[in-house]
Parts: sequence; structure tokens; C-alpha cells
Amino acid sequence: MDFSKKLIAWYLENKRDLPWRNTTHPYPVWLSEIILQQTRVAQGLPYFESFLNTFPTVFDLAEASEEEILKLWQGLGYYSRARNLHQTAKTIAIQYNGEFPKTYKELLQLKGVGSYTAAAIASFCYEEPVAVLDGNVFRVLSRYYGIATDISSPKGKTEFTALANEVMSRQHPSQYNQAIMEFGALQCVPKNPDCMVCVLKDSCAALQHKKVNELPVKSKKIKQTNRYFNYLIVEDEHQNIVIQKRTQKGIWYNLYEFPLIETEGEMDLKELSNLIEKESVVEHSILEIIEMNDESIIHLLSHQKLFIKFWWIKTGGKNTAALSWEEIKKRPFPIVVYNFIEKYF
Ligand code: ADE
Repeated sequence: MDFSKKLIAWYLENKRDLPWRNTTHPYPVWLSEIILQQTRVAQGLPYFESFLNTFPTVFDLAEASEEEILKLWQGLGYYSRARNLHQTAKTIAIQYNGEFPKTYKELLQLKGVGSYTAAAIASFCYEEPVAVLDGNVFRVLSRYYGIATDISSPKGKTEFTALANEVMSRQHPSQYNQAIMEFGALQCVPKNPDCMVCVLKDSCAALQHKKVNELPVKSKKIKQTNRYFNYLIVEDEHQNIVIQKRTQKGIWYNLYEFPLIETEGEMDLKELSNLIEKESVVEHSILEIIEMNDESIIHLLSHQKLFIKFWWIKTGGKNTAALSWEEIKKRPFPIVVYNFIEKYF
């Protein structure tokens, strides 16, 4: 049996029963693939269910407000994906009368749909023979065929794309693509795979040459910057709180947050009090400033490490723009901020 036949046979025996696999409708398939680019299956499942329950059709998603979508997406990170999801739902609803395009090439035109997602939809829904290439597929192919080309380089992308399309099943593109991803997720795992029980063990180049733990090769190191965020929880005499929407492009665009002072390093109470006074960020008279976490909360993003401190600032007077905690909790926040709110307020 060849590579693709063995993979499919393995898949039919071992696959997980996942909701997006029981349909060939492009809407849930697209939704699931966008969510699964952000997270693993176990964490992605509840998001998939809540999106599909809240927005059963692409028209419902198109008509939703961006804020509603961001709120449901809260915690998945990389919020531009959620905004692209909304944009594409509108395109499908308005320009395509609710019908997704049916070919890889046309699917690629949609916002937020790259070669991976287009291949997934085209193969799963329309049996077009285009190979998916994600982290799982890179790993399986580089090990099985013993290829040490750097998967983060343009050369690696080209080489693996060609190989992936060459070895895929032309008879069963959908099953094959599901199979290789599932095989990467369950059997050919990144660390310490159990190669002794693997159905491909007799023909796996990496296993034969003792290179399983060295493949795939991925050299690109992403540069990380440290940022220091001081969130001011400014409470008026009615216990209402000020929040603001992030309008600058970049991380967390259009999500809510507390008034923010970004600094070059971590602040202590004295330093922060001086800054607040100097920059006159708080309108009313300050009664008390409480340092809520003396250890910064560390939040990792793809290119940034955030050190976050929350400062509870009790003020006199009434702030007409301030909201109650109940109202605040309905808004979309970065998950690190939302978790803090839930824990303390
Ligand atoms: N990860 C990305 N796409 C997937 C799918 N269709 N099934 C399981 N895991 C996935």
C-alpha cells in the first residue's frame, strides 16, 4: 500500500468524531478551519459550537455587529481573524448571495482565506484535489520523506507544497487531507511520538535514520519585544468604571480596555502616581491608588511579551462616561484583561 492509502486506512480506524467532519457545507467548514488556525481542537470546539448556535447561517454572521463577533471570539487571540471572518461573511452574503465559491482559486480571493483554508474548503466540500499544508502536514511529510529543508523558508514552502500535492490521493482528496492532519495531531506528534505502533514505521525515513526528533527543521526565530502596560481602573463615587476602545492599529484593535499608561519598564506605586499626576489622565480628585498585582501578569503574543499591572484608582465625583461592571463584562476585552475583571470584580 502506498503512503496515501495507508494514511486513509489509519484515519478510518482512528479518527475523532468532530462536528465539522459530518458536513460538506462550506459555512461550518470555513468557520471551523478559521477557528482551528488559532487553537487546538479541544479548545476550538466550544467556540465552533457557540458561533454556529449564535449565527446558524452566513447571513446571520454577516448581519452581526463586529462587537458581537469579537465578544464570541474573546480568548482565541489574533482578533484580525475575527474581523476578516465578518468581512468575508458580508462578501458571501451580499456579493455571492450566500453561496461560497466552489474552487480553490476563487476561495483564495476571500479575505482571511489563505492557501491552507482554501485547500481545506475546496477538498472537504468539493473534493478538489488540492493538498492542505499546515504544521501537522509539514511534520508528517518531512519525517516520512526525510526532508530537512527549513519549513519556514520560501524554498521549504515551495518544496513541501509540491510534495504534498504529488503524494495526495486524487480519488479521495477530502479523506486524505483530513487523514494527514489527524495523523499529525494524534500519531506523528511533535514530541516523543510512539513510532513503534505507527502504521508507517517500515517506510518512514526519519525513523530509519533516527531523525524523528530533528524533523521538521524550522529555523525562523521571531524577534520578541517586551512591553509594559499599566491599566488604570478608574472608579468614580458610584463605583462606575471608565473603559475605552482601542482604536490604534495593531494588537487588540477595536477591543475594549481600561485607560492605559505604557511605560519603558515596570512601575511601582510611587512612580505610577507621579505619572498619573504629570499626564493628568484622571479627571476627578484621586482618593486612593491601589496596586492590585505587585507581580506583573505576563501575557505572550506572537511577537510581544506583555507585562501587565492593574491599578485601582478610587476617585470622587461622577463620571458620566463610566459604566457598571455588569455592563463592562458584556464588552469584548483582551482575554488577559477579561480574566482579571472576572477574578476581582
Ligand atoms: N485542525 C485544522 N483543521 C482540522 C480539521 N479539519 N480537523 C481536525 N483538526 C484540524
